[in-house]
Formats: sequence, structure tokens, C-alpha cells
Amino acid sequence: MIKLAPSLLAADYLRIGDEVRLARDAGADYLHFDVMDGSFVPPITFGADLVKRVATVGLPVDVHLMIEHAERHIETFARAGARIITVHAEAVTHLHRALQQIRDAGCLAGVALNPATSPECLRYVLGDFDLALVMSVNPGYGGQKLIPACVDKVTEVRGMLNAAGLEAIVEVDGGVNLETAPAIARAGADLLVAGSAFYGAKDPVAFAEQIKRIG
Ligand code: DX5
Ligand code: ZN
Repeated sequence: MIKLAPSLLAADYLRIGDEVRLARDAGADYLHFDVMDGSFVPPITFGADLVKRVATVGLPVDVHLMIEHAERHIETFARAGARIITVHAEAVTHLHRALQQIRDAGCLAGVALNPATSPECLRYVLGDFDLALVMSVNPGYGGQKLIPACVDKVTEVRGMLNAAGLEAIVEVDGGVNLETAPAIARAGADLLVAGSAFYGAKDPVAFAEQIKRIG
């Protein structure tokens, strides 16, 4: 069964509590929380204080750190109530250590890969993460079109995990909608992030139902 993580990036920030409750009541599995630092990616978004507030709604928070020096902020996001913390392989010098830090902080540890990053960079940390986040757009902005080559990368990542006998979550982020989701699910993804497709839907509840029925 496909799991859904609506991305708060596409929500109406003036009604943030209602938007988080909408995701929860629609049957979402996580709230995807995009943290950007204005350096690894151009925009600056939200921080741990907001995680603390939105975590009170009761939907597990999936924190996607698009920041440099992520290791300096892991404990803060864990204390704020994150369930998953994902760091970018491109932004962390000591990836193995950062993943251990996330697990030690009591969270599921995720590794994100930019569209141009090879899945090979996961090979020597295969047993050290709980989630691989395949970016299917260049990180930084919502509402972009999915880059088709990234779907092949999902197949590769799932193949590497299967070959190693591991059952980590494979999450896909960027350009996910009802048209692109079936191929992503067939490639082996089990957690789909949807920002504009969820919050921009006429009926987000119906969108969530449809997407969860795929695969
Ligand atoms: C982009 C973010 C995504 C974004 C996805 O850098 O990581 O989580 O919210 O937005 P959509 O679903 O609109 O492509
Ligand atoms: Zn994201």
C-alpha cells in the first residue's frame, strides 16, 4: 500500500493548523516538512519551532533537511518531534555519522539524493538508513515537473535494497501527482510526497484516497 506525505511547502501559511489537520483527516501517513537554508537551496523556509507546533496535530512529521551542516541541527529537530529526519548525501560530509546521529536521537534516518546523484552513494551505508529519498525534481521549489530519469533511479535503489535483504522505505519527492504516481509506485516507491498536487487539489481528501489506492 502506497503511503502519502503531503508537503507543507504548498499549504496556505495563514491557515497552517487547518492545513495540517486537513492532511491528517485525509488519511495521510506523514506530514512532509521541507527545511531550506538559502545556501544548499536558494529559498529559506521553516525551522524546528514550527515542527514542534505542527507535531501536536498528531501526524508524524517527516523532516527533509535541504541544508548544509545538517548534523548541527539533528538533535533540535528530533527534540521538536520529528519522526523521520532526512539529510542530503550532497550536503553532509560524514554521511554515516549523520545517519547514526539521527537514529541515536530516536528518529528514522533518511538519505536524500538529488536528481544527478548516483544511487551508488548509498552502497556503503545500506544498513545504516531507514529511508532513501529519491528527489524527482531539483530541490528548492514546489510545483516542478518530475524528471523521468529519476523513476529509473527508484528501481535501482529498490533493487539495491532487495539484493541486500533490506526493507528501507523508498520515498519520492517532486512532481508527484495522479499521472506520475503509478509509474513511481511500480518502480518500487512506497512513500510519495505531494505538495501542490495535494494542497492544490479541488478535493484533497479524494486525492489522498486515489493516490493510496495505487500500487
Ligand atoms: C522540493 C521539496 C518538495 C516539494 C514538492 O524541494 O522537497 O517536498 O514540496 O512539491 P511538489 O509536490 O509540488 O512537486
Ligand atoms: Zn521535500
